[in-house]
Amino acid sequence: MREVLEQIKERAISELSKLEDLKSLKEFKVKFLGKKGEVTQLVKRLKEVAPEERPVIGRLINEIKQLLESRIAEKEKELKELEKQRRFEKERIDVTLPGRFPAFGLKHPIVQVMEEVVDVFRSMGFQVAEGPEIEEDYYNFEALNIPPDHPARDMQDTFYVSDRVLLRTHTSPVQIRVMKKYPLPIRIIAPGRVYRRDFDVSHTPMFHQVEGLLVDEGVTFAELKGTLQEFARRIFGEETKVRFRPSFFPFTEPSAEMDIGCVICGGEGCRVCKGTGWLEILGCGMVDPEVFKSVGYDTEKVTGYAFGLGVERIAMLKFGIDDIRLFFENDLRFLSQFV
Ligand code: PHE
Repeated sequence: MREVLEQIKERAISELSKLEDLKSLKEFKVKFLGKKGEVTQLVKRLKEVAPEERPVIGRLINEIKQLLESRIAEKEKELKELEKQRRFEKERIDVTLPGRFPAFGLKHPIVQVMEEVVDVFRSMGFQVAEGPEIEEDYYNFEALNIPPDHPARDMQDTFYVSDRVLLRTHTSPVQIRVMKKYPLPIRIIAPGRVYRRDFDVSHTPMFHQVEGLLVDEGVTFAELKGTLQEFARRIFGEETKVRFRPSFFPFTEPSAEMDIGCVICGGEGCRVCKGTGWLEILGCGMVDPEVFKSVGYDTEKVTGYAFGLGVERIAMLKFGIDDIRLFFENDLRFLSQFV
């Protein structure tokens, strides 16, 4: 019996020393000191021992019990400390890690290009003017020398709100509003949204234009050319070539369209410039005297030039985008590229 006791004691102590967490310590306690634990069971076996030896063995059993209890208590303290350390280790934060930056919004590519265009003209002394997007027929067509039966009204497929009210099809009505309101000289640009019934790879029902208007005495076509050439160089680079082709607009005479050397192929001829080496980027001309008449100017003295450009078109050429509809799908994978 003494041997059995000695064995249990030794086994218990060695097992105890190998325990690594509180859970197995609890199991250990049950295994040896629980109701059916090995040490507890020994008491029942006392009757197998010779009567005179019982007190001694009984005392030994008690000693083992006490020994284990105090060792268990020590071990418990030790393991608690260890588990605390483990938890600290797990919850540890590295305060030297760089922070997570909040996601900032950014300007839509169209807004970016529009602001860039506006800045170029502002640096040349133009002031920003604005007009309503819901416009009267008078400002959008009539005062711009586009009478009711004029084919240009078909050319620009219009969204009508009523007989006399419509969504402006271009920013040119701002010309009329400004000339009616302010004294000469006038030097403005008018950025904004315009609307036409059109939808394909190069047309959306809403798009953006920047209008320009300069009115004074003795303004020349050469000044118009110089201003627009400088604009093209500032937007597309110093080496940009430009050319002017005769064109027609009811509100300018003479009228022209300005092309720039193709920014995709450098003038060699490609799909984007349809093999010509040139890209049309804006319409312009000298303000037609008929327009001056409708705002009450002396057409013998007053001269001026005007131009209008499409912002989406400039943005597509600048960024190499081949479908205008991408601008308005609000796909962040597309938009987040324009930082
Ligand atoms: N308003 C014209 C258009 O939308 C552009 C233009 C503006 C042409 C000013 C000449 C002068 O096509």
